[in-house]
Amino acid sequence: MAEFEDQGVSLTALAVAAGRAVETSRPDPLVRDPFAAALVEAAHSHVDFPTAWPPNPEAVSPLQQPLLLASIYIGVRTRFIDDFLESAPATGQTVVLGAGLDTRTHRLSWPAGSRVFEIDHANVLDFKADVLARLSSPPSCELITLAADLSEPWRALLLALGFDPGKPTTWVLEGLLPYLDSAAQLAVLTEVLALSAPGSRAVIERAVPLPKTEDFEAKLREFSLQTGLPMSQLLARADPPNPEELLTAAGWRCTGHTVQDLCERYGRTLSLRPVDAAGRVEPAPQRPTDHSRGGFVTAWRS
Ligand SMILES: C[S@@+](CC[C@H](N)C(=O)[O-])C[C@H]1O[C@@H](n2cnc3c(N)ncnc32)[C@H](O)[C@@H]1O
Repeated sequence: MAEFEDQGVSLTALAVAAGRAVETSRPDPLVRDPFAAALVEAAHSHVDFPTAWPPNPEAVSPLQQPLLLASIYIGVRTRFIDDFLESAPATGQTVVLGAGLDTRTHRLSWPAGSRVFEIDHANVLDFKADVLARLSSPPSCELITLAADLSEPWRALLLALGFDPGKPTTWVLEGLLPYLDSAAQLAVLTEVLALSAPGSRAVIERAVPLPKTEDFEAKLREFSLQTGLPMSQLLARADPPNPEELLTAAGWRCTGHTVQDLCERYGRTLSLRPVDAAGRVEPAPQRPTDHSRGGFVTAWRS
């Protein structure tokens, strides 16, 4: 069984899986990921990730509070992208860039003949494959994995695995761009454009420029110390390209979605505080992760 590399950017994949485990355990889950808790357990991480929604979220330890709060965001994000993938018209091939421990290949039911390419670091993909092989029957899609560094050229590797740039593709960029510097983000988005036949579509979680203030750095360091997640080292700081502008300039039809739009759509509030009957909640204290959420772009090439 492949060991989970319990550090660096791989750890962010585990944090997201933990968020989906917490969401799945809620009485009103937006998403049911039956593999998420098992992935967290099998990783034996040094970080004490929560995998269940506690009876009183405000009473959990300071370490777990930011992780629980993040799970609310992860639930909303996962559901939004699930809904995008399940909306018509589907494409025969899908590429998930920075797939991490996302289990959509096994969770969703795919139209017959679907091919899903997942790209990430080898250690993340190998670990996930081993755990899923133990827990699940093969997925309803054809899953093709590509171990690659997305900050280096990857087009030839994808083509060698049978990706067909002449056919429409669905692209998923979820939780990836904030970890790439701006040149690598631009290179990835440029490749998405170059490899997209008419009829392609994309869902992209945007990165935002992070403030370069001492106050923000201190909050990031505090978050990293509290949670064990080294976000202060991992998040790219440079000004990122704007995917909506790039895709629109290339003739794609784009729609922007703020995090608030998604929270309203799915009836969630990014707070651990109880919501009153009118859906109001006291403002929660600002956390560093709030600054790293750039919203989403959905886009179609006609
Ligand atoms: C926050 S996780 C998100 C994973 C997944 N998309 C999800 O939402 O569950 C970020 C993922 O991007 C991957 N990643 C970051 N930088 C990468 C790079 N340069 N090349 C390949 N994968 C990368 C990490 O390994 C990790 O799995």
